[in-house]
Amino acid sequence: MLNNIKVLSTGKHLPERVVTNKELENYVETSENWISSRTGIEERRFVSDNESTSDLAAVAAKEALKRAEVKPEEVSMIVVTTMTPDMPFPSTACLVQDKIGAENAFAFDLEAACSGFLYGLIVGSQFVSAGSCRYVLVIGAETMSKILDFEDRSTCVLFGDGAGACLLGKADNHNQGILSFDLGADGGKSEILKMPGGGSLFPASHETVKNRYHYLKMNGNEVYKFAVKFLGQSALKTLEDAGKNPDEIDLLIPHQANLRIIDSAVKKLGIDYDKVFLNVAKYGNMSAASIPVALDEALDDGKITRGDLLVLVGFGAGLTWGSCVLVW
Ligand code: COA
Repeated sequence: MLNNIKVLSTGKHLPERVVTNKELENYVETSENWISSRTGIEERRFVSDNESTSDLAAVAAKEALKRAEVKPEEVSMIVVTTMTPDMPFPSTACLVQDKIGAENAFAFDLEAACSGFLYGLIVGSQFVSAGSCRYVLVIGAETMSKILDFEDRSTCVLFGDGAGACLLGKADNHNQGILSFDLGADGGKSEILKMPGGGSLFPASHETVKNRYHYLKMNGNEVYKFAVKFLGQSALKTLEDAGKNPDEIDLLIPHQANLRIIDSAVKKLGIDYDKVFLNVAKYGNMSAASIPVALDEALDDGKITRGDLLVLVGFGAGLTWGSCVLVW
């Protein structure tokens, strides 16, 4: 469908501070064992007070550009996918454009929560495919720790901070690129995962602060049921659209929210676990940053070789979901 669009290079940046499950026992009534057995998460990274989403995104983007030997001024478009922007406006993408010196790029944010990177990848690819942009940076970056409620044990143990970037361009080989994608949304389920405060509905006020509206709120069980259904379903649909079978997958890179949710998708696809990339234990759920960081690590670990069939799949608030099949 978008054949001939290639991820030219990747980059990532994780904050230095490692927060273990044990450390979280100091903040909420929880246990190392509860967190790891229910989610697969062992630790996550948190930024420092003076670090923001654009700081992480800029480092990841610079790494991707360096690896591809592309100069910042050659980039035509920057998409930052995030639900934790530095501020409502200007966009985090504009701040990144300035930090990396990509003076010729237009820049904007795209918000599709944890599905954001997949949405951004497809949007960016369309511009390359149409010939309107030569190089596009798609960055998933989050500072989830800044919107976590450390009085809510059911959410604060699940998320972490980080950024991953991909530089997109044309492939010289017609057999490479994005074969198919599936993006979807169900706004009827917007209530089950949200941060209610700070927008036009509930602008910041003493009341919104008192009600803790500036923190992430989630009905975990409802999100779990949705994720279990859609992760496998979306991956199967996009594989079918690409004319491929699950047994042809070389590597599945799922959104890293919860090991049990990934398990259910793996069972639905009927593939072996050695074809699934996992880093949820180290980073928790980094929302839009999870998939690009995983892709970058899979490449660093030598788990992807030229010609491999990859499936990326995710889900998140909105509710939203997305997947794509690509030949590396
Ligand atoms: N430590 C200890 N106990 C906890 C806890 C914690 N951090 N968080 C919740 N609990 C308790 C609950 O209060 C509940 O206690 P109760 O039975 O006395 O009421 C009990 O554990 C079981 O809670 P439950 O919600 O049924 O647990 P679960 O096995 O469904 O796991 C989640 C909860 C949040 C891990 C799981 O629902 C989930 O992963 N949902 C999807 C979340 C997600 O991926 N969100 C991001 C989308 S991109």
